[in-house]
Amino acid sequence: MHKIAVLPCDGVGPEVVTEGLKVLAVAAEKYNVKYELVEYDIGGDRYLRTGEVLPDSVMEELSQCDAIYLGAVGHPDVPPGVLEQGLLLKLRFGFDQYVNLRPIKLYPGVATPLKDKGPEDIDFIVVRENTEGFYAGTGGQLKRGTPDEVAIQTGVYTRKGTERIIRYAFELARKRDKAKQVTCVDKANVLTYGHDLWRRTFAEVGEEYPDIKQENAFVDAVCMWFVKNPEWFDVVVTTNMFGDIITDLGAMIQGGMGVAASGNINPEGVSMFEPIHGSAPKYTGNNVICPIAAICAAGMMMEHLGETAAGAAIEKAVISALASGKLGDLSTRSGVSTTEAGDLVASLIE
Ligand code: IPM
Ligand code: MN
Repeated sequence: MHKIAVLPCDGVGPEVVTEGLKVLAVAAEKYNVKYELVEYDIGGDRYLRTGEVLPDSVMEELSQCDAIYLGAVGHPDVPPGVLEQGLLLKLRFGFDQYVNLRPIKLYPGVATPLKDKGPEDIDFIVVRENTEGFYAGTGGQLKRGTPDEVAIQTGVYTRKGTERIIRYAFELARKRDKAKQVTCVDKANVLTYGHDLWRRTFAEVGEEYPDIKQENAFVDAVCMWFVKNPEWFDVVVTTNMFGDIITDLGAMIQGGMGVAASGNINPEGVSMFEPIHGSAPKYTGNNVICPIAAICAAGMMMEHLGETAAGAAIEKAVISALASGKLGDLSTRSGVSTTEAGDLVASLIE
């Protein structure tokens, strides 16, 4: 019995989570997956009501779960940072979910803005470091709000943190068994301390993987190549903030935020699955957001929990739904509601 914590949170989060759980229920029934859901009312509304973001008691309960399924975080009435740090990053850091796994896969029937590129060209995965870098929150401000203000925000890179994410990427390249290649993305020509550590670690760990091709690339060039030659990539490993940025670009080439899913993985602990899109407050309650990303995240969660048949069935149903052409352009103007999209995928589980 898998115990799954459900955190719909803010904006359109609850709407897409409902569809993800709808599809999950059908796949679980077909493949005999036993699970129990425990829903938590956290997010911007609760914060505005009670001043609480993510109480320790909830963290304690979540630590007893097998996985967390999250909708979206971000509320227009809450100052920036409060929910991002107090909720999303607290979960990622608190459960040491050091891998942020973001597949960039163009499914057949989905439009990409890249001219002359198709599903055979766009199929790679970004392994984003998820606990360090500029997200560590170290730094400070002096003389805030005065003309002499000083602000320092430090990127934190540890040997341990760098090594474990790079090792994960190499193992994944082996497991994928595609191009058997890992591209390490950094800015070592400018960030000559932190990203020098990354380069040396990549080279050292790489010696243990002679069967895997190894490339170094600068992040700015990678932005260019994701657009020009996405077929060059197989597994991409990168730092926290660069991973954040290049996966929004990745989401666009795979057909938009409506399809981009992610997993925050602690291979030895509690992992969390979420669409990479945000809470999209202006669409809240309108039933217009594409739930495919959230549905795919549920599929990744099944896979992670060892329910490979159910996970594969969810991905297959998504592929059939997208190929059917019945989901329109996946945008908020597609004319297909969130619920209809979820119903369609659920009906295609085999
Ligand atoms: C993401 C988001 C988060 C991040 C924000 C909401 C803190 O953009 O999951 O990519 O920067 O990691
Ligand atoms: Mn992001």
